[in-house]
Amino acid sequence: VSKEKPSGHVALIGFMGTGKSTVSRELAARLNCSAIDVDAEIVRRECASIPDIFASRGESEFRAAETAALADVIERTEPLVIATGGGAVLAERNRKLMLEGSFVVALKADPEQIIARVSQDPDRPLLQGDVAGRVYKLLEDRKHAYDFAHLAIDTTHLTVQEVVDLIEQGLK
Ligand code: S3P
Repeated sequence: VSKEKPSGHVALIGFMGTGKSTVSRELAARLNCSAIDVDAEIVRRECASIPDIFASRGESEFRAAETAALADVIERTEPLVIATGGGAVLAERNRKLMLEGSFVVALKADPEQIIARVSQDPDRPLLQGDVAGRVYKLLEDRKHAYDFAHLAIDTTHLTVQEVVDLIEQGLK
């Protein structure tokens, strides 16, 4: 697919547990720039953890904080690798911000791998209780949510370095 490539940042999108944070750090090292995690920016700006924001203010306020944090990050002039949260793609405004300011890369992975990865980190408010059941339901709800990316990579059988190689090739 050949879509126009904006210069500037690289934004990584994808479902929870597809490796966005890990890949962002390796890609940033390769590109000699900084990696920024939008979830971490939200925590810093709101002085509260993500589970706390969900619990005390609800998902819609979390989403508002997410858009504010993303907009600020995209506005920075130095090129960045931006790891977004899995639901950042749901708001049209966020998709627009990403497409205008960055080369958007979607990371995908098999549900089994996603479940194995997210099970190691129990802090995701949307995956409480029946983790596998929730992953399958959300994957179905978000089936096409990541389709707007300039480049999509299935990371299931790839190493982090191989994923970074593919992104680097996509940037050329
Ligand atoms: C969410 C994904 C999380 C975090 C929040 C909501 C989602 O980020 O933003 O728990 O809606 O998919 P990761 O994709 O980094 O886990």
